[in-house]
Amino acid sequence: MKHLLSITDLSPADIHGLLELTDHMVEISGRPIPKVPALRGRNVVSLFFEDSTRTRTSFDTAAKRLSADTMNFAVSSSSVNKGESLRDTVETIAAMGVDAFVVRHKSSGAPQMITRWTNASIINAGDGWHQHPTQALLDCYTIRTGLNRRDGFDGLHIAIVGDIRHSRVARSDVQAFSALGARVTLIAPPTLLPPSLEGWPVEVSHDLDAVVPHVDVLYLLRVQRERMDDALLPSMEEYSAMYGLDSRRAAQLAPHALVMHPGPMNRGVEMVVDPAELPGSVILNQVTNGVAVRMAVLFSVLGSGSDLRGSE
Ligand code: NCD
Repeated sequence: MKHLLSITDLSPADIHGLLELTDHMVEISGRPIPKVPALRGRNVVSLFFEDSTRTRTSFDTAAKRLSADTMNFAVSSSSVNKGESLRDTVETIAAMGVDAFVVRHKSSGAPQMITRWTNASIINAGDGWHQHPTQALLDCYTIRTGLNRRDGFDGLHIAIVGDIRHSRVARSDVQAFSALGARVTLIAPPTLLPPSLEGWPVEVSHDLDAVVPHVDVLYLLRVQRERMDDALLPSMEEYSAMYGLDSRRAAQLAPHALVMHPGPMNRGVEMVVDPAELPGSVILNQVTNGVAVRMAVLFSVLGSGSDLRGSE
C-alpha cells in the first residue's frame, strides 16, 4: 500500500488485514514501553490545514510508537499565510526528505492532488466532505472488538444519525461497514442528507425512535455548523428533540448496543445524555483504538515487512 486516500482503495480483505494488524499494535501499545523500532529513520509529517484534536495527536502518537521521526506543520504560523500555494508548500517540505504526509484539508480531493507533487506516501486524515479512511477503520475496529465480530459484520444493524450531508466520517463509515457486511440505516432530517444517495448501500429513516430499539450500533455525528452556509436546521433545540440522544432514547437501546461518536461532541445537541453514564458508550475506546489503527496504517505504508518485534 503506497497511499491511503479513501476506504474504497481497500477491499474487504484489505480491511480485515489492517484490523488484524491493529490487534498487534494494541498489544504493543499495552507494553510497559509501548515502542518498537519498526519505522526508525522514517520521517512522517502532518500537514493539517483544518483544526483537529484527536486525529492529529493520534497520528503523532502512532508514528512515535513505531519510532518514526515526526514533524507537525502548523498552518497558522506558516508561509501559507503569506499566500504560498498548497503545491509550493508540499514541494518545499518534501525537499527536506519526507516519507509520508498525513494530510487534512477542507477541499475534497486535496490529498489525491498532493500525490502528484511528491514521491512520499499520502495518508488522508480528512478532506472536506469526502473521506476520512482512518476514522472508518478505527470505527470498524471498535465494533469488531466491542461486539466480538472478528469475522465480519454480517447481520449487524448500524444506524448513523445526524449531519450526514457534511460528513466525511459518514461517507467512509458507510462504505467500510457495508464492505464488512453490516446493514446501515441513515437517520437525519432531509436537509442534512446528501442531495443524492444513489449508490449508497443504505436505508434511510427520519424516525430515530422507531429505529433505536433495533440497532446493534448507534453512531451519532456532530452537527457541523462550520460547514453550513444556509439555514438547514430550524433550530438546535428542534434538532436535539428529534435526533439527539437523550436518556429516554438511551433507555430504548438493546443492552448490548454500542453508542459511538467520532468527536468532537456537541453536548446538548446530538449528545444530550452524559455518555459517561451510558454503559454502551465506546467513544473513548474509539480514541484509544485510533492510535493502534494508525500504527497499522503507517506500518502498512512505510514498513519493510518483518521488523515489528522488540522494543527500544
Ligand atoms: C471528525 C472530522 O474531523 O471529520 N472528527 C474526527 O476526525 N474525529 C468529525 C467531525 O469533525 O465532526
